[in-house]
Amino acid sequence: MRVLITAGPTYEPLDPVRFLGNHSTGKMGYALAEAFAETGAEVALISGPTSLPDPASSRILTTRVQTAAEMYAAAAAAARLADVWVFAAAVADYRPAEVATQKIKKSGERLTLELVKNVDIAFELGKIKRAEQFSVGFALETEDEQAHALGKLARKNFDLIVLNSLRDAGAGFRYDTNQVTLLEADGRVTAFGLKSKTSVALDIVGVVLDRLAARHV
Ligand code: CTP
Ligand code: CA
Repeated sequence: MRVLITAGPTYEPLDPVRFLGNHSTGKMGYALAEAFAETGAEVALISGPTSLPDPASSRILTTRVQTAAEMYAAAAAAARLADVWVFAAAVADYRPAEVATQKIKKSGERLTLELVKNVDIAFELGKIKRAEQFSVGFALETEDEQAHALGKLARKNFDLIVLNSLRDAGAGFRYDTNQVTLLEADGRVTAFGLKSKTSVALDIVGVVLDRLAARHV
């Protein structure tokens, strides 16, 4: 089995010394890469900037990228060959419309930045997903969580979406723990308790392998 995983944040440059980014640590995506590799899968891990070392497993090939555009190019190259896609990256939705060639100097009291939309990696790849491929997305919502997550599942052609709960302290960005609910295209809902990202990864891999096995009986 081959698995494609996007992980971490993207950094969108503003000038030679500044970027727009987010607090994603990459831990969830890296934990998934390790969990899939443990099952014997070959993993292409496309990672934005993180402080984590490349996973040591010889089954995981890590590619480092900075921007959403670079992450898309690397993911698109690996997607066709992969049986499972996991979009765990916190991709910047927008990037600065222009990247200044020199450091932007301080001037007036206000500064307005113009941003343009980035490519939606999961959406673009969702359009070319084959019937035998299995796609997993992530969502973190602050209102109407399940409805918004199901909207993303349909729009991006996911088979399963991992909804991160923000309700419990200790879940999400910057924490080592997560509390997730898995929503599937067929309406199945599976809720898990607060646990380490490593255990959450094992739960997700277990469900994905189960669904793939069920397709072949
Ligand atoms: N995603 C992606 N490329 C993007 C934005 C999101 O691949 N440019 C993926 C994420 O990795 C995640 C899923 O799409 O698996 C949902 O990301 P999210 O940010 O929740 O969805 P958006 O469509 O960007 O909606 P919004 O941020 O407005 O809630
Ligand atoms: Ca987004």
